[in-house]
Amino acid sequence: MVTTFAYDLADPGFWRLPEGERLAAFRELRALGVPRKFGDFWALTRHAHVVEASRRGDVFLSGTGVTTPRPPRWVRAVFGDSMVNLDDPRHSRLRGVVSKAFTPRVVSRIAGDVTDLAARIAEDVRERRPGDFVEAVAGRLPFAVICDMMGIPESYRPEVRAQVDHTTERTGGRLRVPGKNLRALARLHLVVAEVARQRRREPADDLISALAGAGLNARELGSFFSLLLVAGVETTRNTIAHGLRLLTEHPDQRALLLADFAGHGAGFVEEVVRHSSPIIQFRRTLARDHSFEGTVVKAGEDVMLFYSSANRDEAVFGDPDAFDVTRSPNPHVGFGGGGPHFCLGTSLARQEITAIFRELLARMPAIRATGAAEMAPSSFDNRIARLPFTF
Ligand code: HEM
Repeated sequence: MVTTFAYDLADPGFWRLPEGERLAAFRELRALGVPRKFGDFWALTRHAHVVEASRRGDVFLSGTGVTTPRPPRWVRAVFGDSMVNLDDPRHSRLRGVVSKAFTPRVVSRIAGDVTDLAARIAEDVRERRPGDFVEAVAGRLPFAVICDMMGIPESYRPEVRAQVDHTTERTGGRLRVPGKNLRALARLHLVVAEVARQRRREPADDLISALAGAGLNARELGSFFSLLLVAGVETTRNTIAHGLRLLTEHPDQRALLLADFAGHGAGFVEEVVRHSSPIIQFRRTLARDHSFEGTVVKAGEDVMLFYSSANRDEAVFGDPDAFDVTRSPNPHVGFGGGGPHFCLGTSLARQEITAIFRELLARMPAIRATGAAEMAPSSFDNRIARLPFTF
C-alpha cells in the first residue's frame, strides 16, 4: 500500500504537469483504495466510488454548485440555477420538463441535420484547407447543433458565439467571477429572453418554444441555454479534437475505423470519451457522513468525482491507457457515473461525433494532426485550444 503521495491536486501547478506524470499520480491514488483529502475536498479516484457518489443523489448533493470553487450565492441568485446545480425536488421538476421537451422527435430532427451539417463542414475543410482543427471543425458542429435545437436565429449567432468565448475564456469552461464573463452571461440571458418572447407569440418546433410553453420562466430559460452552451458545446468540441489527436497517434486504430466505420464507429466514439475524459471532474457536497471502505467523509464536506481517473481504473479496464476502439464492454463514466444528473445530451453527442468523423474520413482518409495539441491546462475540462492538421 502506498503511504506517501507527493502531489497536491488542489495546487493549480499539478494541472500543468506533463500528462504522463498526472496519470501516474492518479494511478497511485487509486492504489490507496480509499479517498484522500486535498485542501477542502476529498478526491474520489476509483471507478466504483465515482459511480457510488453519482447514483446517491440523496447523499451527494449538487446544490452548492458542481464546479470548483463554489459559485458565490449572489451569482446564482441573479442568474438562477441550471439543473446541474440543483437537488431534488427542484432538479427532478426541471429535468422532467426539459426531458419532455428534449423529445426523440426534436433530437431526431436535429440528428438528421447533424449529418448535413457535418458533411458541409467536411466539404468546407477540403476546399478551404484551414490550419486549425478546433476552430474549423471541432467547435463548429456542436455550436450550430445547440443553436438549431434551441431555435436561435442566425442573426443572433455571431454575438452568442462571442459571448460564449467570453464566458469560458481562460477559465477552462468554468465560470470565473466577477468580470466581463458575467456581462457575457447576462447578454446570453437577454438573447434567450428575447427569442422566448417571440416564440410565446409564435411557437416553432424548437426547444425554446417547448420550454417556454412548459412554463419555464425567462431566468430558467437563460440558465438552461448557458448550461447547454457550456455543457454541450465545449465538451463535444474537445471530444472531437481529441478524436483526431488519438487517430493520429494510433494508426492501427485509424486503419480499423477506415476499414469498417459502420462496425467500429460507435466503439471509437466511446473510447475517445473514455480515454480523453472531456470533463475531468465535478463536485458534490455530503448531506450526511458517508464511509468509503472505512474512510469517513463528513456531512458538509466536498468530494471531487474524478471521471478522468475512474476511466483509467485498472480494476475495470484492461490495459487502461491503451486506445482501443474494439474495447468491449466499455463502462466509462465520461458522461457521468449514472444517477439523476447523468448527461442529458449523451445520444446527441454520440451522433455528432460519429457524423463528423464519418464525413471527414469518407472524404479525407489521411486527415491527421501535424503537431502537438495546444492544451489549455485546467482541473475541470480536458481542453484542446488548437490542433494543427492536414489531410
Ligand atoms: C462528449 C460530450 C459530452 C460529455 C463528455 C458530457 C459530460 C457530462 C457530464 C460528466 C455530466 C454530469 C453527469 C453527472 O453529474 O452525473 C453532464 C451533464 C449534462 N450534460 Fe453533458 N456531456 C456531453 C455533451 C452534452 C451535450 C451535447 C448536451 C446537450 C445537448 C449535454 C447536456 C448536459 C446537461 C443538460 C447536463 C446536466 C444534467 C443534469 O444535471 O440533470 N451534454 N454531461
